Amino acid sequence: MKKKNITTVTYEYDSVDELSKEEQILIQKSKSAVTNAYAPYSKFQVGAAVLLENGEIITGTNQENAAYPSGLCAERVAVFYANSKFPDVPVKAIAVTAFTNNNYVKTPIPPCGSCRQVLVETETRFQKPIKIYLVSESKITVINDAKDLLPLNFDESSLNN
Ligand code: THU
Repeated sequence: MKKKNITTVTYEYDSVDELSKEEQILIQKSKSAVTNAYAPYSKFQVGAAVLLENGEIITGTNQENAAYPSGLCAERVAVFYANSKFPDVPVKAIAVTAFTNNNYVKTPIPPCGSCRQVLVETETRFQKPIKIYLVSESKITVINDAKDLLPLNFDESSLNN
């Protein structure tokens, strides 16, 4: 038997002022996007902003449906749209935030498992790590690589086993 430890490193910031101008813009775009969410059922409006290597920022929001499972998270809406519009341009970073009960969330919200899987696929596709900014009212959690949020992930190498 071999015991293995998996470590995830996160960086927590108390204010956007601790981050660069480029990072602040991305974070602000995710915050502005929440108003475009279609979340009549959960009333939990999520905004995501994807930064591409060509400098483009693509935003996305959660899109719900009366048939609940037919909806989609903000992260996947943003990443899929970015990859549809710019199929050859790597994704550098994504910022995600949520607005509910008339306020941005108090603590950063982590992406769901399916969104983590899509982020890892995008990293594999472009062979570039994606930096993740989880944004709340004032605090920000940064993860340097989507794989840190989904260790032991299923990918192409699993299929070609
Ligand atoms: N949601 C996202 O858009 N991103 C996440 O990371 C977590 C959850 C959405 C899905 C649903 O529309 C609402 O938030 C409540 O779960």
